[in-house]
Amino acid sequence: MAVAPAPDPIAHLLAHRSIRRYRPDPIPEAVLRRVLQAGVRASSSGNMQAYSVVVTRDRALREQLHAPHMHQDMVLEAPALLTFCADFRRMRRWLALSDAEDGFDDFFAFMVAAIDAVLVSQNVALAAEAEGLGICYLGSTLANCDAIGRLLELPPGVVPVTGMVMGTPAEDPPLRDRLPLDGLVHFETYRDPDDDGIRAIYRERDRAGWERYMAIPELRARVEAAGVRNLAQIYTTVKYTREAHAHFATNVLGYLRTQGFLDADRGDGRD
Ligand SMILES: Cc1cc2nc3c(=O)[nH]c(=O)nc-3n(C[C@H](O)[C@H](O)[C@H](O)COP(=O)(O)O)c2cc1C
Repeated sequence: MAVAPAPDPIAHLLAHRSIRRYRPDPIPEAVLRRVLQAGVRASSSGNMQAYSVVVTRDRALREQLHAPHMHQDMVLEAPALLTFCADFRRMRRWLALSDAEDGFDDFFAFMVAAIDAVLVSQNVALAAEAEGLGICYLGSTLANCDAIGRLLELPPGVVPVTGMVMGTPAEDPPLRDRLPLDGLVHFETYRDPDDDGIRAIYRERDRAGWERYMAIPELRARVEAAGVRNLAQIYTTVKYTREAHAHFATNVLGYLRTQGFLDADRGDGRD
């Protein structure tokens, strides 16, 4: 009997595209659980699994989350919104119940938990794609982690770090470019390119990225209104301004303090 060739996992990785338009069909429960099970197979620091995943399917709740997700309509359109949280709460409660020392109340603990959460998110993304679903990450999750955390009723010790929408794709977008591998990978030690090297790394993106933005009338109008002349300027004048970054940095630091991840105030009532 002929054996079907095993699907090529690398070909799967190379075919990734973010999906921003969705059909309303719910994700079958068994498929969702399989995807999540693959997610929590990710490596985790000390196997502590210092994360939680909040799956939001409820339409009314997604409507409330739409604003902190910067009004991105895929939050309403896709049937599921997943929020990946750094979470030392569960572990710390277990430690307390077991009379164990606990030092997981500082920024290092947050970083450990955030890395765990992000690794799970990428496993989930790839598993969802393997099931024929589409995903798109949401940077708004971290930027507005405080408002999103409140809506999701996160207790102290839990902070949203990334999120994604998931569902059946209603679009078939082309692959987005990537910078050339030689610009991203260093062998043995880091080699800082000279200016010509930097220009070479970004040459193709400068061209294709500019064309892509100019082809979208709404973006073209914004770019022209801002007097922007190249792709790099689009990034920092239109997309990611210094003011916006400062605002989001304040959100994140404030919420880390509230949730007990900064030494000065653990947020759990203890000194
Ligand atoms: C952490 C993270 C946050 C992102 N946030 C958003 C977002 O808020 N909205 C959006 O449309 N795409 C978002 N994306 C998707 C990126 O724009 C996308 O991955 C990138 O442009 C490359 O395109 P591709 O995923 O189709 O290859 C995010 C991706 C990552 C990894």
